[in-house]
Amino acid sequence: MVTKLTLAAAICLALPVMAHAEEQQDPNIKARIALMDLYAYNIGVLGGMAQGRMPYDAELAASAATSLYHLARSGSARMWPEGTDNFSVEGTRALPAIWDNMADFAARAAALRDATETMMNAAGTDLASLQAAIGPLGAACGGCHEAYRQPQ
Ligand code: HEC
Repeated sequence: MVTKLTLAAAICLALPVMAHAEEQQDPNIKARIALMDLYAYNIGVLGGMAQGRMPYDAELAASAATSLYHLARSGSARMWPEGTDNFSVEGTRALPAIWDNMADFAARAAALRDATETMMNAAGTDLASLQAAIGPLGAACGGCHEAYRQPQ
């Protein structure tokens, strides 16, 4: 019979093991997920303003767009080494299709760079300019996810 005490002991024993597994996650996977989270953090500001969920603030919009511009140019190509797909390792939603279609994946990353440039030039101008640029930017994110990210 499993007592509460043995359960508690089992949990205590399991915790350091889990922490260890976390530490061992491939640094490339950690980095690309962190990059994606920063994309989401910044596009959240722009999307919020575009959709009227937050007041338009030219300075904040320009700052988020400038961050996106630089993040999209932060050398992320090396974050996708072969063998880090979600069929081969835990802790990633990157589909194996990425490595079968690397040229297309790279083209989508390039499309994101273009869309962030357009947004950087638009975001601080006025709300209408930001709104015109958000669709293509969102599509650059979403198109790649549809093709290459495991749905949750
Ligand atoms: C070139 C393809 C590509 C582009 C462009 C792209 N993503 Fe991703 N994104 C992925 C892939 C692949 C994953 C899964 C990564 C993994 O789990 O290793 C992902 C994961 C994510 C995640 C989940 C991160 C997590 O915590 O697990 C978020 C959020 C995200 N992307 C946001 C964005 C946003 C916002 C943009 C646009 C500004 C964007 N992505 C552009 C391919 C892309």
